[in-house]
Amino acid sequence: MTMKKTTLALAAALLPLLAHAQDAQIESKVAALMKQMTVAEKVGQLHQISGRLVTGPTSSDYAATLADIRLGKVGSMLNVKGVADTRAIQALALQSRLHIPLLFGQDVIHGYHTVFPVPLGESASWDMEAIEQSAHIAAREAAAAGIHWTFAPMVDVARDPRWGRVMEGAGEDAFLGSAIARARVHGFQGKQLGATDSVMATAKHFAAYGAAVAGRDYNAVDMSNQQLFEVYLPPFKAALDAGAATFMNSFNTLNGIPATGNAFLQHDILKDSWNFKGFVVSDWGSVREMVPHGYASDLADASVKAINAGSDMDMESYAHIKHLEDAVKSGKVNMKTLDDAVQRILYKKFELGLFDDPYRYSVAAREKAVLADPSHRAAALDVAQKSLVLLKNGVAGAKPLPLSRAAQKIAVIGPLADARRDLEGGWVVEGDRAPVVSILEGIRSHAGKAEVSYAPACDTRCSGTEGFAEAVATASKADVVVLAVGETWDLSGEAKSRTDITLPGHQEQLFAALKATGKPIVVVMLAGRPLVFNTIAEQADAIVYAWFPGSEGGNAVANVLFGDYNPSAKLPITFPRSVGQIPLSYAQYNTGRPVTDEKNVVYKSAYIDSVNTPRYAFGHGLSYTDFKYSGLTVSSKEMSPSQQVTLSFDLANTGKAEGTEIVQLYLRDMVASVVRPVKELKGFQKIHLQAGEQRRVSFTIDRELLSFFNSQLVWGAEAGDFKLMVGSASDDIRLEGAVKLLPSK
Ligand code: NOJ
Repeated sequence: MTMKKTTLALAAALLPLLAHAQDAQIESKVAALMKQMTVAEKVGQLHQISGRLVTGPTSSDYAATLADIRLGKVGSMLNVKGVADTRAIQALALQSRLHIPLLFGQDVIHGYHTVFPVPLGESASWDMEAIEQSAHIAAREAAAAGIHWTFAPMVDVARDPRWGRVMEGAGEDAFLGSAIARARVHGFQGKQLGATDSVMATAKHFAAYGAAVAGRDYNAVDMSNQQLFEVYLPPFKAALDAGAATFMNSFNTLNGIPATGNAFLQHDILKDSWNFKGFVVSDWGSVREMVPHGYASDLADASVKAINAGSDMDMESYAHIKHLEDAVKSGKVNMKTLDDAVQRILYKKFELGLFDDPYRYSVAAREKAVLADPSHRAAALDVAQKSLVLLKNGVAGAKPLPLSRAAQKIAVIGPLADARRDLEGGWVVEGDRAPVVSILEGIRSHAGKAEVSYAPACDTRCSGTEGFAEAVATASKADVVVLAVGETWDLSGEAKSRTDITLPGHQEQLFAALKATGKPIVVVMLAGRPLVFNTIAEQADAIVYAWFPGSEGGNAVANVLFGDYNPSAKLPITFPRSVGQIPLSYAQYNTGRPVTDEKNVVYKSAYIDSVNTPRYAFGHGLSYTDFKYSGLTVSSKEMSPSQQVTLSFDLANTGKAEGTEIVQLYLRDMVASVVRPVKELKGFQKIHLQAGEQRRVSFTIDRELLSFFNSQLVWGAEAGDFKLMVGSASDDIRLEGAVKLLPSK
């Protein structure tokens, strides 16, 4: 070993020891501080309030709130941002008896100043580096503006596109969702918590919020433990393993018990079984909401039930600040329980370095420089183009995309063609944000010799048809039409559940009017969720699903339309044909009466008015080139539980353009003590190939990959046959193989 290598090896060996020593140091500082604290001061640390009271529009509570901060009755605030405001408010907290700094939290969901695609959109990139980078830039910008903590990532698996919050997550799959949860936590928190280009992450909403009955936000959730452990918890566990500093609980009940008052979730699973050392923040008002749920008799009872169940910080319920001191005095809450919650929070304040320098995140020069960093826009463009899904390109061989830049006429039409706010999507911070490039603007600047005309046709919700005639006239003079339609930004997100997920207003009618011109129509669709658009799916010449692509959205769309970027994204969530099919996932069960022939479904598990298959399946997404899969081998037909097998195949780019394919590995456990889904994603790789290039691709299959939770919720693999499938989408399996897992000896 060289000298340098020895030193490096030594340093690596010392790191855990150093971390351990640092933990111990912080623990003793926390303990020393706790000794000085009154019960009221401890309770103050659990109280989180919104800064809109003090930095937003003036409110009657203004003076009282400022006084509370000075008295140490507030531990954390959300919605205070920017160096000037965070400094001013922190200064008040430092006037409190023990000078304990505040934690500033904010919903930094997909960017701060520079807006990145909405999380569901980014998830379509299946690109962990790009996703991590996006989260890291969001953290860098937020941390430069005085923020210590983001309420992200949302890692709720969601299989119901009626639920507006599908937009905020990673889609329907536990495996993909876990990978994305890890990437986002790493991105937000960076290499080390406390670095001033990182913020604390929050894995939310714990748990099962994505399964609200009928897709109605805040609704109850009723689910087997099997489903909970198999589908809904894995991304949380992945976030925790990646080091997520905090968790947020959720509004919903789970099997009758509100998540905020749920000891099974917060104590048994999170803090005991998973050994989570950070703290749990409630969702906004979710402690108080245990009263209307019918679980707590009043706010005082709600405070007791929340803290005893493991919910540490109270966001905006004012339950602990009003009642917890009394509850401790009367013995309804043990001092030990209170101390545990407070310690968890103080620990993070020390870890962030706030006791050493309470203003370390609030430095004006850094804020100015970081928010103006041009590399952030470049990264936003990169991930946006990686997120755009080419759903369809051509009918019977003719492929309208990519568009030519030669002298031709392109008509850009539609209510969202020149929209800016709608490209950002929901959950962006108020105030100063990076300028947005609209789709029209992007197309104009990329069009070369092509001539671009424009007609909006209607307002952004397409509430009237008055502009249709002009739009049709514009289309009639063109060689090709680019039609930008979809949802406006405010139709998905929190409290934006819809029973009808077709295109709002008269947009389908607009499509029909343009189609009647006989011109090729390329549809660009914006949305925060899978929409239902059957006529367009059948009749459009090409469709690009753009989600809400962020500040650089227009340039990303133009790059894809003109072929400067060859699309590679794949759907992270199933697109149904109708609301009636929901919930719909590729990971369905076979049933005792599976449909084997769509023409004969009598007494099969089917509908009499629709096929079972989705409009677009999980994992679907096209490219401008073609990929051929061949030569699958599995290194052994059998494996013992301690062995591994390698599945390999050749992937060739048989088209004319370089491109990236996201190859997907699925498996099915054929017979098990708990029935397994017909397909489960168990691996994916993003492979870039030049035209004509071929590469051998391999996946390793071990016992862990074959494991599941049995009916006793014990994780493990059962001996027997496994079907292995690789392909380009969950409904486009190109090669199959098998392996038999032998019993343990
Ligand atoms: C309610 C939302 O459910 C949660 O995700 C968010 O972090 C909080 N409000 C704070 O804005």
